[in-house]
Amino acid sequence: MSEHEYNFSASARGMRASEIRRIMKLAGDPSLISFAGGAPALSLLPADIVDAIYGALPEQVKRIAMQYGATDGYPPLIAEIKKYLASKNISMDGQELIVTTGAQQAINVLAKIFTDPGDAVITESPSFIGALAAFKSYGAETVGVPMDDEGIIIPQLLEALDKWGKKAKILYLTPYFHNPAGIIYSVNRKRQLLDALAGREIILLEDDPYGELYFDDADKPLTVPMKSMPHPGVTICYAGSFAKIFSPGMRLGWLCAPAGIIDKCQLAKQSIDACSPVFTQALASEFLSQNKMPAYIETLRAAYKRRAGIMLDSLKQHMPAGVNWTVPKGGFYVWVTLPEYMNASEVFEAAYKNGAAFVIGSAFDPAGVKNDCLRLAFSSTPEDKIAQGIEIVANAIKSCIK
Ligand SMILES: Cc1ncc(COP(=O)(O)O)c(C=O)c1O
Repeated sequence: MSEHEYNFSASARGMRASEIRRIMKLAGDPSLISFAGGAPALSLLPADIVDAIYGALPEQVKRIAMQYGATDGYPPLIAEIKKYLASKNISMDGQELIVTTGAQQAINVLAKIFTDPGDAVITESPSFIGALAAFKSYGAETVGVPMDDEGIIIPQLLEALDKWGKKAKILYLTPYFHNPAGIIYSVNRKRQLLDALAGREIILLEDDPYGELYFDDADKPLTVPMKSMPHPGVTICYAGSFAKIFSPGMRLGWLCAPAGIIDKCQLAKQSIDACSPVFTQALASEFLSQNKMPAYIETLRAAYKRRAGIMLDSLKQHMPAGVNWTVPKGGFYVWVTLPEYMNASEVFEAAYKNGAAFVIGSAFDPAGVKNDCLRLAFSSTPEDKIAQGIEIVANAIKSCIK
């Protein structure tokens, strides 16, 4: 049956199978050298740690892990996440925490409780595709504000805030190893941002799944969340995830926000999935309480730094003049800007034919249009394939030069 034969809701009718979906499907072909997936490398996932944790759980805890749980989360995990946030100088004063089914759910639930159709969510341009989809699914307009290499551009943000006024409900940012742009905010830009938001009603959603994945210790100070900085007059909802620091299949994230907001999130979450999987919450709780995370993250930092280095060297070697890219200090992504006339979809077709894939820029454009850019993820491509894959992408770009 075609879509027209069902009486779908307006929001479901707004969900379109797009060119992006088609390309993502193609990019999933395992015979390709793929820079498309924003996922950890399979070989880096901590199966041995999980085996040991599960094997050592007392029978009673194993049963509790198989049971329904509280909507706000498994109490031992909540306690561990609070300790972790305290280590990042995030105060729980007046704040509460909810465990979510991935950071994706934290974003979705906030969108659900704050946005009505016709409201605006202001985002960076480009922005994370999953967040854009969540905001749009509630009928919100996604309003993109450009970035430079220090973060969102403040005068243009102020313009958008003034234009949308009370209808601008959420400012969604990924300040640390941005997906897709690869950048990290400067300390200065974070301060300017907090000043710009002081006294405004808009909620700042600070999404931080990659902050732990800095390549060099010297850059750690850049990963200090705004949630831990003085922010009088600014409401910050801070989202985190276990996807990149434990494993995405656990489907666990969290949201730390003022108690009144978390209360509403709980009500919203109850109707979605009642609770996040207690099974994986029990594993994550032990992962933190047994202090397994620091050493594990060290291995990730080293592995991703190596992969990023290979990718950056290959880009330098193979990319034609007129192509620019960001140089990440951590995270998973390099963002490539093509000559303005070039269309990333055409580059994709040429690269795909020769065995490599990436995600086209328009997937990350809040307006879904701008396509003179593309995202390369170095996180899950085998090290010995990266150089070859980049050469294919570079040749595809060369073939589109006019
Ligand atoms: C910026 C950003 N936020 C949120 C998520 C979703 O994370 P999770 O897997 O915890 O739902 C991702 C996943 O790629 C992401 O890149």
